[in-house]
Parts: sequence; structure tokens; C-alpha cells
Amino acid sequence: MNRTVIIQASSRSDGDTAEVVKYLTSISGYDIIDLNTKNIGHYDYEYRNKDDDFIPLMTYIIDNYDTIVFATPVYWYTMSGILKVFFDRISDLLRTHKDTGRRLRGKNMAMISASNHDDLKSGFSMPFEESANYLGMQYLGDVHTYIEDGVINSDVQLRLQNFNKTISKQSI
Ligand SMILES: Cc1cc2nc3c(=O)[nH]c(=O)nc-3n(C[C@H](O)[C@H](O)[C@H](O)COP(=O)(O)O)c2cc1C
Repeated sequence: MNRTVIIQASSRSDGDTAEVVKYLTSISGYDIIDLNTKNIGHYDYEYRNKDDDFIPLMTYIIDNYDTIVFATPVYWYTMSGILKVFFDRISDLLRTHKDTGRRLRGKNMAMISASNHDDLKSGFSMPFEESANYLGMQYLGDVHTYIEDGVINSDVQLRLQNFNKTISKQSI
């Protein structure tokens, strides 16, 4: 069975990205992992962070899910720092936990961005598409969401419904 997890990657667990993730799970039932609650250090060439939450978390994700949806706020025109650190640490899998890293091949990736305006700059999705490509994952697509005064309006709801259809159809 195909299982999907949303990796919520905001610096606050109850902010705009969380609202978007909550709406998506309400229509899809996808599981959520909140990176803000994890202890994941920066990439270290000496692997001094090897005993933090990254390897157990990634192993759990790979064991249990086929589709990974990253949900990130737009911070300084790009993904959140928390998510960038998570991506950097995927390098651990390619170097010290190669068997685990190889198991990403054939899995699916998708991405949700969140800000307060419908003005995402072009190129935002490039690191996701290229990383999926590099890791042998299929990139299913992305959606930009914008939250005004904490509210997900009907346009954004529709975008999320269509996004959910796209990823559930492609990830069978
Ligand atoms: C550090 C930081 C940087 C931001 N940079 C941008 C930006 O470059 N472009 C933008 O449209 N919004 C930017 N914002 C606004 C956030 O994208 C927006 O408030 C978003 O909805 C916050 O989601 P969150 O509550 O999950 O953190 C920034 C916010 C923060 C805290």
C-alpha cells in the first residue's frame, strides 16, 4: 500500500504552514512529521551529529512511507532553514548509511510552499526537483499556498484539493 507523509518544516509548529498541513490532512488522512520538534544538527563532515534524531527519523520514514511531501514556509525566497538542514543531512545517508539512502530510490517526492502572498518566485521548486532526481525519486509536483490572517481561502483550498488528487493519482 502506498503511504504518504507530510514533513512539516516551519520554525513554528502552529503557524501558517501548520494550518495548510492541517487542511491537507483533513482531506487526505496523510500522516505528519513536524521537523520543528526534532533535534537535527547541521551537516558535519566528521559526523559529530550521528546520534541526533536524523538517522532514526529517516529510517522510520523510509520504512513506512513511499511518498514524502515537504511543507515549507518561504523564508528569504527559499525553503526554511530547518528543511535545508534536513536536506543537507541526507548526505549522511549517501556516505555513512548507504543502504538506507539507496532505499529512497523509487519513492516519490512533492512539495508545498506557504507564505502570505500569491507571489512565489520562479525557481523555488528547483532544489526539490533536482534533489529528487539525484536521489532516484519521482517528483510528483508542488503547490504554492498563501495564508491571509491565518485563513486558508477557497482558492488555496482548491489548490490543495487538486494537489492531493495529483499526488494520490501519481503515487499509486
Ligand atoms: C525568516 C523569515 C523569512 C521570510 N521570508 C519571506 C520571503 O522571502 N518571501 C515571502 O513572501 N515571505 C517571507 N516570509 C513570510 C512567511 O513566508 C510567511 O509569514 C509564512 O506564512 C510563515 O509560515 P510559518 O507560520 O509556517 O512560519 C518570511 C518569514 C520569516 C519568519
